[in-house]
Amino acid sequence: MKNDLFLRALKGETVERPPVWMMRQAGRFLPEFMEIREKYDFFTRCRTPELASEITVQPIRRFGMDAAILFSDILVIPQAMNIEVQMKPNFGPYLPNPVRDQKGVDSVVVPDVNEELDYVMNAIKATKEMLNDEIPLIGFAGSPWTILCYVVQGQGSKTFDKAKEFCFTNPVSAHTLLQKITDTTIAYLKAKVEAGVDVVQVFDSWGGMLSPVDYREFSWKYIDQIIEALKEMVPVIVFAKGCWYALEEMSNSNASALGVDWTVTPRTARYLTKNRLTLQGNFDPARLLSPPSQIKEMVTQMINEFGKDRYIVNLGHGILPNVPLDNARAFIDAVKEYKK
Ligand code: CP3
Repeated sequence: MKNDLFLRALKGETVERPPVWMMRQAGRFLPEFMEIREKYDFFTRCRTPELASEITVQPIRRFGMDAAILFSDILVIPQAMNIEVQMKPNFGPYLPNPVRDQKGVDSVVVPDVNEELDYVMNAIKATKEMLNDEIPLIGFAGSPWTILCYVVQGQGSKTFDKAKEFCFTNPVSAHTLLQKITDTTIAYLKAKVEAGVDVVQVFDSWGGMLSPVDYREFSWKYIDQIIEALKEMVPVIVFAKGCWYALEEMSNSNASALGVDWTVTPRTARYLTKNRLTLQGNFDPARLLSPPSQIKEMVTQMINEFGKDRYIVNLGHGILPNVPLDNARAFIDAVKEYKK
């Protein structure tokens, strides 16, 4: 690997400067992405290796991040499990037949991932060729809890009340569903590693919907199974949004890194994780709307607070579609220009 900063930071090695990438970097803030988006619908982009690999490398070409993340979506998993998922323009994910009872759980299939998701593996192979061992490629999956949120709610939500109601009133069925998702996700991530990804990240975007006690029961338990299944193969990063309260417990796991959102200070995140592993984050995505000179100052400050080692510069959640290109560039350049 020509640039192995990201892999070295994940191992906890001393680095000249921290590596940088941005969650959701393959996306709508890029004009070259919007051009492709006009011609092909969402799942066509995911299913066509030439398109998925092109979209994956677009942000790298423009900004030179230290890692690429495969263009795909967390919702290809429920799709492969016999649950219909649509991506509606100006609405987001829509699942017309949400799972709400045991009968629904019974109809959910644990698929052969190499058959149902072969297009992802082909996209990985195509992307690895394009990257030419310049930088590592990240593969990802949603956490079982976050997938359950969509599968039960049927769409995005501010509260995911139906998903929580299902877990709280029907815990046996909910755990059966979570285990099916976990088994599929483990097989899926292993297949992705075999196809060529260098690192995996688990997105628990809706972990913060749960109380600390419920988080342990409905989310962390399953994420930990994924970490244990993958840890010998590749470094595992867990990004659990809104879950600073779980950082201490998560830091006792075999994850290589934990993502943190912007509601926690670097100091608190380090204190809770006792410097046991690498941290990733945590710039407020909306702060990329500040003037570039201010972004640069804030990024330098953030690196000083986390420390340059055992640290991966990132946002605290996905990049917003309305971020100007110069501002995204200021974020990346500030890291590359960093000198202790
Ligand atoms: O650059 C990357 O990070 C790789 C690509 C990526 C996408 N989705 C592409 C995408 C990744 C890592 C995801 C993960 C994902 N998908 C998450 C977890 C991360 C997070 O942001 O919390 C979640 C919750 C989803 C589910 C999802 N997919 C939603 C809620 C939406 C619609 C909302 C939106 O952002 O528009 C999607 C669609 C989606 N996935 C888009 C992209 C670029 C936008 C739609 C489009 O391109 O037409």
